[in-house]
Amino acid sequence: MSRTLVLASNNAGKLKEFSQLLAQIDFEVRPQGEFGVPEAEEPYLTFVENALAKARHAARLTGLPALADDSGVCVNALGGVPGVLSARYAGEPKSDAANNRKLVADLASHADKSAYYYCVLVFVRHADDPQPVIADGRWNGLIINAPRGAGGFGYDPYFLLPEQNKTAAEFSAEEKNAVSHRGQALRALVEKLR
Ligand code: IMP
Repeated sequence: MSRTLVLASNNAGKLKEFSQLLAQIDFEVRPQGEFGVPEAEEPYLTFVENALAKARHAARLTGLPALADDSGVCVNALGGVPGVLSARYAGEPKSDAANNRKLVADLASHADKSAYYYCVLVFVRHADDPQPVIADGRWNGLIINAPRGAGGFGYDPYFLLPEQNKTAAEFSAEEKNAVSHRGQALRALVEKLR
């Protein structure tokens, strides 16, 4: 019999991706919106603290085990910026186009264009779980000046994988999941939960 797990996100893409792998270990994943859970604050300076806060919030309001993720793009020449602030790098209202314009402008005077996507996943058995299960993943690439590709979201059209000479937006969803920060973190989490 499958166990229900609440996902601290209402993103349909994440729900599908997470559901497929977690079904292998008998978890049925349901988004927090189904339970009327509002989005949690993400006030912290680290990905893991934000993900933990989101997971605890969802578990507390539903009484169910919960899974949360936090992710972003970290640019080496900018000291890891935008990092945890990736979604709102160019301020409110959040806009992928404005974020990408700002990133390209901020990097214009730097020769080092290397960057990586980072994702952390946190699973809690209950809201006060003293031993959250944590897994992470990292995907290295380069930030380019002009967009390529129509897939993905966020910074993907500007995130080049030099070995494939493709941006993340030129990968299919399956190709991206097989190598991305989020795919790596999810597979690592499933192994830990097995
Ligand atoms: P969140 O963890 O879903 O809140 O994502 C934070 C932000 O990081 C997103 O809004 C994007 O700007 C960026 N980001 C995270 N993962 C990806 C990705 O796979 N592609 C493009 N942008 C991403």
